[in-house]
Order: sequence, then structure tokens, then C-alpha cells
Amino acid sequence: MSKNPKHITHSQQFNQDFLDSLFDRATKHKNTIEAGGAPKRTLQDKYLVSLFYEPSTRTRFSFELAAQRLGMHVIETENASQFSSAAKGETLEDSIEVIDRYYPDVIVLRHKDEGAAERAAKVSRASILNAGDGAGQHPTQALLDLFTIQNKLGKTDGLNIVAGGDLKNGRTIRSLAYLLARYPGNKFFFISPKSQQMSEDIKKYLNDNKIEFVEDEKPDEYLPDADVVYWTRTQRERGSEDGQEIVLDKKLVKAMKDSAIVMHPLPRVDEITTDVDELPQATYFEQAGNGLFVRMAILEHVLGVV
Ligand code: NCD
Repeated sequence: MSKNPKHITHSQQFNQDFLDSLFDRATKHKNTIEAGGAPKRTLQDKYLVSLFYEPSTRTRFSFELAAQRLGMHVIETENASQFSSAAKGETLEDSIEVIDRYYPDVIVLRHKDEGAAERAAKVSRASILNAGDGAGQHPTQALLDLFTIQNKLGKTDGLNIVAGGDLKNGRTIRSLAYLLARYPGNKFFFISPKSQQMSEDIKKYLNDNKIEFVEDEKPDEYLPDADVVYWTRTQRERGSEDGQEIVLDKKLVKAMKDSAIVMHPLPRVDEITTDVDELPQATYFEQAGNGLFVRMAILEHVLGVV
């Protein structure tokens, strides 16, 4: 695969050329926008359709604003399961076949079914970007997560990563685990209630790639040596049982190194207390902000302008 993939469906697909080029470009956009500048409109008069069958705040807004910053036109439906022909029983494949005939350049798809993005990519001329497929993957989130780690810690290898919460149904940590498994010396500490443990496919992948991992139900003993703490919410909509959250509070975060970072894909419910926000380790809002810069770079890569 080149540094310009056509579709983005899962995070095992990326190669190092793509990641390096993507992060260079995202850094450029971050610097320009944070300094109050306007990036070059490299995608003028290209068209993006954002097709969301599941709720979203960050992913949808950051993709749509990224597209508009680069000069694209954006058409969106934020509640496709109710307001598109899916409500009448149309299959995803048929919907994509039809939307594709209106010649969009990119379709950003969030869907409740695992594998939906791959099914869409099979029938689409436009680039399909997987914005979350059920309990499957969320590869563009993993890219912005890895970018945040590189940006804050200056490296993506040799890290102790404590990942907590609903690891079974949380698609963001699944995608990020695949990405972090590429780098030597990373070690995972998976913290979750028994019913929400990391699934076998990821554990097998880590074993195959000789990445060490530990599973436990309490984070306390792992936090002082952590470099990255990645917390997630209970995925109630995917059947995970409520009321078992492992709560990350101020006391726990204060036991971490000052240089460590606390990440969360958001939305947070009550698994990170709000008094953590003022601590230097709290990185989740900055992480969400990076979504704009990384998604600008993603659009430029899939459309081949960098
Ligand atoms: C996540 C998702 O949709 O998977 N949100 C996001 O895109 N940042 C995480 C979640 O909903 O828990």
C-alpha cells in the first residue's frame, strides 16, 4: 500500500510511510491554525458526504470542519438510520451504490454493524472512511490518538499503556491497540470488569506481534509507571452492563508521573471525574482537538494531494 490509501477501513492497513506523511501534514495544519492562519484550500470543489447511522459529536464535526477548511463541499445526514432510506429497509450496499452515483469524492461512514465500512468500500468508487463500525474499529480515531501520543511524549515505542473501561465493545481502543502493536517495547495493561475484557482477536494479534500485555480489574498498581492511560466509557448501546465502571479520580491520577498523559476518546460519562481536568496529565480535550488537524491530513492523503 502507498502513502495514499483509497479507503480507510481498519487500522492494520497503515504503513509507516503513510503515518509519517500524515503526521507531518497534521502538524503543519496544527501550527497554521493554532497561530490563527488559514491553511491552503487544497481540496477546493471536492465533495464529502457524511453518512452517520449512529450518534456522533467529535467525529462528525471534526471531519466536516476539516473538509470545509480545505475548501470541500459537505453534505450530511446525522441520523441516517431514521432519515435515510435505511428506515424503509434499504441495505447499506444499495444506499452506497446510489450515493456513489452522485459523484462524491469521500463518504465518511459511521454504522452500527461491524464490517460495514468494508462492505461499503467493496461497492464504492468514492473513498470510504470508517468513522466507527459497531464494536469493530474506529481507525481515524486511532490515528488522532497516535498523533497525540507522538506529539505529547515525542515517541510511540517503549511505552507502558494502561487501557481501562469497556475494552470489549470500545472500538477506539481496539483500533489503537492494533496501531501501537507496530512499535517495539510497548506494553499493555488492560483494566476492566471481567465482562468487558479485551477480546481474543486483539490479544492474539498482540501475542503474534510479541507485545506483552497484562489483564486486571484494578488500575492502582500500574498507574505510577504508566506513560499513557487510555480510559473508555461503558458501551451501553452495545449491550455492556452499566454500573461496573472503574473510575479514574484525582487521587489515582496524582499517583501518576507528571509526564504521563490521560486520554479518553470522549464522550466521558462518569468514569473520569471532572476534577482530573485541571491536572497536567489530562490530555483528552487536546486529543479531541487534534481530530481536526489529523482529519484534514487524512482527507488530503486519500484524495492524493499530498
Ligand atoms: C467514540 C466512538 O464513537 O467510538 N467516540 C468518538 O468517536 N470519539 C467513543 C465512544 O463513543 O465511547
